[in-house]
Amino acid sequence: MRKPIIAGNWKMNKTAKEAEALINELKPLVAKSKPEVVICIPYTDLWIAKQAIEGSKIKLGAENVAWADSGAFTGEISAAMLKEIGVEYVIIGHSERRQYFGETDETVNKRLKQALANDLKPIVCVGETLEEREKNKTKKVLKKQVLVGFEGVDDLSNVVIAYEPVWAIGTGKTATAEDADKTIGYIRSLIRKTYGAEVAKSLRIQYGGSMKPSNAKELMAMRNIDGGLIGGAALKAEDFAGIVNYKG
Ligand code: 13P
Repeated sequence: MRKPIIAGNWKMNKTAKEAEALINELKPLVAKSKPEVVICIPYTDLWIAKQAIEGSKIKLGAENVAWADSGAFTGEISAAMLKEIGVEYVIIGHSERRQYFGETDETVNKRLKQALANDLKPIVCVGETLEEREKNKTKKVLKKQVLVGFEGVDDLSNVVIAYEPVWAIGTGKTATAEDADKTIGYIRSLIRKTYGAEVAKSLRIQYGGSMKPSNAKELMAMRNIDGGLIGGAALKAEDFAGIVNYKG
């Protein structure tokens, strides 16, 4: 059985003080949560968040990680820096990093290897743009993202994949549950081909893109969907908790 995982991606939102307040509001609301609960948050919020989540079920995640150990990489944050604070998860290859900051499948691969080498649990994002979808290129794009992104990675036991169709991010447009399930099923089949049936069966794959309390139950009921990566709705305690507690 795959344990569901609901992760918030705060993106570039919340100062440290705002982060502390949001976590304090969230804690009691997710105290009885059944899924694993993670918040992936700006670097500057991590330290205070680590104190704020103390004694709760909330786990800490970052939104990226450098591929190098240390050195002349202005603006980057290393795995060791994250580990020291107590970070457990890292998002890698989010579409906004790909779109605005030159992230490629090759750099995703380097960051993924670095995360795993340092015992950070990666949430690797994949997904097609609207243009790619309309040109019927979804499978081709996903195949490249998975094959190149995971090249040379042997052990997926700590890896989570997030399927985020770019056209559904922040737009209010959600993929239908059936559609998301089918595409995630395709991603699982790619994993099966490379890593075998057992790995494909145990790998958790999230859906992301305008997920909210009102559609979480339907999405989470699908066979292939093991969780959500939540943007906008993760910024309000009540909404995020509404997704975490999708079973009621
Ligand atoms: P929204 O939930 O705001 O659509 O964002 C999804 C996302 O990009 C999570 O990583």
